[in-house]
Amino acid sequence: MTSIMDHTKLIFLLLETVVAATAAGGGQWALLQRSIGVSAMHMQLLHNDRVVVFDRTDFGPSNLSLPVGKCRNDPDEKALRVDCTAHSVEYDVAANTFRPLMLLTDAWCSSGTVAPDGTLVQTGGFNDGERASRTFRPCDDCRCNWVEVPQALAVRRWYATNQILPDGRAIVVGGRRQFNYEFYPKSPDASDLRTIALPFLRDTRDAVENNLYPFVHLNIDGNLFVFANNRAILLDYTKNTVVKTYPKMPGGEPRNYPSTGSSVLLPLKPSPKEAEVLICGGAPMGSYVQALQSRGFVRALDTCGRIKITEAAASWSMETMPVPRVMGDMVLLPSGEVLMINGAAAGTAGWELARDPVLTPVVYRPERPAGARFDIQSPSTTPRLYHSTAVLLRDGRVLVGGSNPNVNYNFSGVEFPTELSLEAFSPAYLSPAHSARRPRIVTSPSPLRLSYGKRFSLQFTAGAVGDEGVRVTMVAPSFATHSFSMNQRLLVLETEAAAKAADSGTYQVMAMAPASAILAPSGYYMVFVVNGGVPSESNWAHIQ
Ligand SMILES: *[C@@H]1O[C@H](CO)[C@@H](O)[C@H](O)[C@H]1NC(C)=O
Ligand SMILES: *[C@@H]1O[C@H](CO)[C@@H](O)[C@H](O)[C@H]1NC(C)=O
Repeated sequence: MTSIMDHTKLIFLLLETVVAATAAGGGQWALLQRSIGVSAMHMQLLHNDRVVVFDRTDFGPSNLSLPVGKCRNDPDEKALRVDCTAHSVEYDVAANTFRPLMLLTDAWCSSGTVAPDGTLVQTGGFNDGERASRTFRPCDDCRCNWVEVPQALAVRRWYATNQILPDGRAIVVGGRRQFNYEFYPKSPDASDLRTIALPFLRDTRDAVENNLYPFVHLNIDGNLFVFANNRAILLDYTKNTVVKTYPKMPGGEPRNYPSTGSSVLLPLKPSPKEAEVLICGGAPMGSYVQALQSRGFVRALDTCGRIKITEAAASWSMETMPVPRVMGDMVLLPSGEVLMINGAAAGTAGWELARDPVLTPVVYRPERPAGARFDIQSPSTTPRLYHSTAVLLRDGRVLVGGSNPNVNYNFSGVEFPTELSLEAFSPAYLSPAHSARRPRIVTSPSPLRLSYGKRFSLQFTAGAVGDEGVRVTMVAPSFATHSFSMNQRLLVLETEAAAKAADSGTYQVMAMAPASAILAPSGYYMVFVVNGGVPSESNWAHIQ
């Protein structure tokens, strides 16, 4: 059956040639760190512009030592019981430096949110970490570290999804063999310690699962959109009722782990009356078993489904991407576009089960008419497959890390070596060609303090503001792992036309903070001024 693989490879080679020839060269890549010593399986940007990065603990030594004298001494560890290497780092974006963090329990394939006070709250994993919670409260003096509670969850959660709720708690949905959800942190109320059944997760599980890391989005009506395998529901988690069952996505192919696609809640319009979800890529049914049995690597899905989740008779619109992609990340850009990045054109998620890395990011422009939405960007040179990640930074770049399809850290003798580097992808809007239009926020304090439904002003400079005026967008930093960015959310705010202050080059724009914690759960967001598609660096803002 190698012919399948050869065939796929051939098609892909042809495709790559076409892609290379038509690439407009949008966007730019830069290597930030050749090695941070740890492969970036999970990443979260915090409001002090530091990114918490972590991997598993159970593969043996990483390439980064813990500070002198510090070692993990874990009798439950699977690989190395006394381990003097780090499995997590804090990356300082502005300084482009990193320091090792002490992660004790195994955070393999875990999930997370950021609490309203800016603390990373992270749950689950494997082995001694399967019921753990881990918090990381950001600091500027490099003295903060992980605080872990090994038995915090009601049940084990491996490959679960977390979503921040309007009340500031996280809901933890699913995980391997968990057809239920729970909340974290727990209140002293005993009812909070149990799990709540979600049969949808049992119903969407097939022979190889294909429904792990379900795609969860907080809808503008306060319910949760939950997509698993090839279909979705709208869940009222407060009453544990399914409010709506959406039609199966056309084609019926699986989109969740290990047939890993990606999903975003598309940018919410000012005072939104509707919300849309976009789900792209994945692997056709059977890909996992075929790759596992060395019978070849099936071409990844090249389709996206887009659906208005707020509509009574919601239905999927299907679109075709310029390149097939499994294990791609989707990142909301401050300009309101969606960046698709990382992943492979053949195979699935899982150890060494993918081939044909897709090196070209694609930008999706949701506001353009169907058929004219995809733009191919400049290629990277680094394959980023299983266990790679991408997150938006405050300055509009996208931080890209990870890829380790191997059970261990292997740097030779394998098809795709363990990747310890960090790169930044700068979307085309950062090109010097746009510097005249680029706004610069000047006078606002950072973080801005926002109140629900209250107006606030931003002062900025810009060479010229076009007739279409400026937009103000607000982006939640998300928890990225396994091609899904949990809590990713972009709101376009209501604004009044920007006015130029007399006798100065400064503009002022009045914007309206989102009306409620349903639209924007309390916490830290990046607020951008966008001028004709070109964003400023953002200011951190805290809303409550
Ligand atoms: C990681 O460490 C190993 C063993 O010391 C070394 O061979 C390898 O080159 C290192 N890799 C990176 C990317 O630093
Ligand atoms: C990968 O690394 C592990 C641990 O260092 C080693 O046992 C294994 O042989 C390596 N695999 C390959 C293919 O080199």
